[in-house]
Amino acid sequence: MKVMLVIGARPQIIKSAPIIHEASKDAEVEFQIVHTGQHYDFEMSRIFLDELELPDPIVNLGVGSGSHAWQTGKMMVGLEKTIKKLKPDLVLVPGDTNSTLAGALAAVKLHVPVAHVEAGARSYDMKMPEEVNRRLTDHCSRILFAATENCVKNLLKEGIPEDQIRFSGDTMYDALLKRMVGALRSHVLERLGLKVGEYAVLTVHRPENVDDPKALKDIVEAVIQLKELVMIFPVHPRTLERLKATGLLKRVKVAKHVRLVDPVGYHEMLQLVKDSKMVFTDSGGLQKEAFWLHTLCITLRERTEWVETVKLGANMLVGNNKEMIVRKVRECLAIEGLETKLKELPNPFGDGNASVKIVEALKEFC
Ligand code: UD1
Ligand code: UDP
Repeated sequence: MKVMLVIGARPQIIKSAPIIHEASKDAEVEFQIVHTGQHYDFEMSRIFLDELELPDPIVNLGVGSGSHAWQTGKMMVGLEKTIKKLKPDLVLVPGDTNSTLAGALAAVKLHVPVAHVEAGARSYDMKMPEEVNRRLTDHCSRILFAATENCVKNLLKEGIPEDQIRFSGDTMYDALLKRMVGALRSHVLERLGLKVGEYAVLTVHRPENVDDPKALKDIVEAVIQLKELVMIFPVHPRTLERLKATGLLKRVKVAKHVRLVDPVGYHEMLQLVKDSKMVFTDSGGLQKEAFWLHTLCITLRERTEWVETVKLGANMLVGNNKEMIVRKVRECLAIEGLETKLKELPNPFGDGNASVKIVEALKEFC
């Protein structure tokens, strides 16, 4: 059985890793890993293939950066050729990036069945490119692997037949459980001169936050105002460009408690999140990782697809207004016994065996 797996952006490598490892144990399954080249800097792609001990992709389409239509179109052309050449029995697409959608569209039009990992997640905000990508991908897919029961419900509401949906759990949770030992050996706190519980982690890269100068300024000013927290800020390349273009880079560099660093590896990130006081982010993956590592998450968005973390009180949606961010964070800092409460929460993201369930289901299907 030949499965062509499409990756391209940083989080897709992480969420695919446990599936690739699981499939490699099974002689009946051949995984053909195809990288679109959406992310190409060492610290956005190669570092994760190395850290997670993954085989090199058999093809890298080298598509690179561009507008949505240009990037998705170029990926589709490359993936169509690749599918015709590799003749997979199924195309597996993880997540919600342009690489995900390009893989799903190229495959479904060649009548190759598509399986979607992380199906059914919904923010109900069609202004986010990820929401468009995940909805369309779900509706092209023959097998839909849902990370939570709520994702299953979302798919049923949209009329997806029940027999196409599998509640697998979240492969990012599998990845985290498998990689925690590596994470604890990372020495990132020593490298950055940090003490457990005395800093916060900040990541931001969504277009609504970084491409809108007013929103980016508000976030930067809020962070500068929150002097009570040392902020470790691994800067996504998109964000670095926008900080430079708006002149906000100079402004944020003046604040001594804000430490801008290059994007970090997966092990370092897990350790940073685990030992931090709180996480500020607009990332989808980091909201869940903060939840699993019992660290409060302040989400710099109005909506999230991971509503479970909000309902359980582990994630607070604060948007990108300066006053709101500062007020909500100060309220959170005043809550007593928060860490204990976060440790007691149930985990709606499965039992850490999502990748086992996914490989089994793919075998049954083929
Ligand atoms: C993409 C995904 C987003 C995901 C994120 C993970 C889409 C629409 N967006 O957003 O869902 O959360 O990846 O990080 O698919 N750049 C570099 N080096 C790189 C990659 C990007 O410098 O290796 C810069 C380029 O200037 C590029 C910009 O970052 O234009 C944005 O990259 P792109 O892949 O288009 O979108 P992301 O913001 O990374
Ligand atoms: N991540 C990382 N280093 C960083 C930033 C993020 O290893 O500097 C990891 C993070 O732990 C998570 C994934 O990348 O596993 C999330 O990716 P990102 O925030 O880029 O995308 P999203 O999840 O929002 O699609």
